[in-house]
Amino acid sequence: MKKVSVICSLIVAVFFFQYCTKDDATTNNTTTQPVLPNTVFSYVINYPNHIQSSLALNDNTPNYNPLTNDGATLGRVLFYDKQLSKNNTISCASCHKQTEAFDDDIALSKGFNGGFTPRNSMSILNLRFYKSGKMFWDERAATLEEQVLKPIQDHVEMGLTLSELVTKVSSQSYYPALFQKAFGSLTIDTTKISYALAQFCRSIVSYQSKYDSVKQGLATFTANEAQGEQLFLTAGANTCASCHTPPMFITSTPQAAFALLDPNDLGINGQNRFKSGSLRNISNRKALFHNGSIANLQAMFTAVPGIPQHSVPPPDVARLTAFLNTLTDYTILTEPKFSDPFK
Ligand code: HEC
Ligand code: HEC
Repeated sequence: MKKVSVICSLIVAVFFFQYCTKDDATTNNTTTQPVLPNTVFSYVINYPNHIQSSLALNDNTPNYNPLTNDGATLGRVLFYDKQLSKNNTISCASCHKQTEAFDDDIALSKGFNGGFTPRNSMSILNLRFYKSGKMFWDERAATLEEQVLKPIQDHVEMGLTLSELVTKVSSQSYYPALFQKAFGSLTIDTTKISYALAQFCRSIVSYQSKYDSVKQGLATFTANEAQGEQLFLTAGANTCASCHTPPMFITSTPQAAFALLDPNDLGINGQNRFKSGSLRNISNRKALFHNGSIANLQAMFTAVPGIPQHSVPPPDVARLTAFLNTLTDYTILTEPKFSDPFK
């Protein structure tokens, strides 16, 4: 008799607990609304000449998905919305943090269920300057439009199916009006979700660093910075610039095998080749290279044994570092149009 009543009260307790947690989850689902400006932010920008001319040559924006202010605004909300993960705990911004130059600050990032990504997160600055449009360290996504749906479906990162995604986005009261403004229709589907996310990502362009002021004739480099730029452009058989092309310092074509020897990950076509994203704001970033094993810029230059193509004589380290520091765009780290609208 005693046993039965213990079991009964246990069952009651379990039901009560489930009821409470469900209730909490529902409350979370419905309370947070994004706060957006009355006049839409400008994401379509006329960049300074040295950036605009590079954009003309390298822009991967497809004709079917031009960047618009309303499209990027919707993309911003989606980018910061935790509803895009299975248990409403993770958004794109969890691993691509504005304060970290849209990168993560640890070697491997944590997904919705506490699991870790197999590779280091990537900074998503200046994506539109990667001519081929191929995304990820191993370039496995052919376009940015294709890429942005991958983390949502990844079983470590966000863990949704595409139909769950559409259902969740459709059930939030704030989305229909944003889709109407962005695409002229209330219909919500995966294509539009991917287009809006891609637009927001493409709008994240750094063009307000000291380097940019110098290129516009508005500032001058110190002696160390100027010598560092010369080293970057000319030193060695393969110059830094031959792989990290100015003014966005993004790889044009990932070169032959050269990088960290990593038996666990051979990158593009298993050839030990990797994409390198933009080096802008590199001084601001932590956990570098595809596996995040290099703590920061200083650690890269002084790694033992040296990383092929990336170890330089000690006197050059200070100059190259001084130059790379000029690539930091402080504005982009706090600019409201790129910030979390749910805060
Ligand atoms: C749990 C962490 C995590 C989340 C959440 C996440 N990402 Fe990422 N992101 C990564 C990692 C790790 C990589 C590199 C993966 C690889 O190359 O295999 C990456 C790579 C990318 C790239 C490729 C950049 C390049 O230069 O090739 C883009 C773009 C991107 N993410 C956008 C997004 C968007 C948009 C979302 C939300 C829909 C998102 N990410 C959610 C961790 C995350
Ligand atoms: C042969 C082409 C090549 C040359 C030359 C080269 N790099 Fe790289 N660099 C790459 C590639 C590709 C990666 C990414 C490799 C990886 O993750 O395994 C990379 C990674 C980096 C990173 C880390 C980027 C990140 O997002 O984690 C920095 C910083 C960097 N390089 C700076 C330099 C500097 C400074 C020089 C000149 C001293 C230089 N590179 C020379 C191709 C090159």
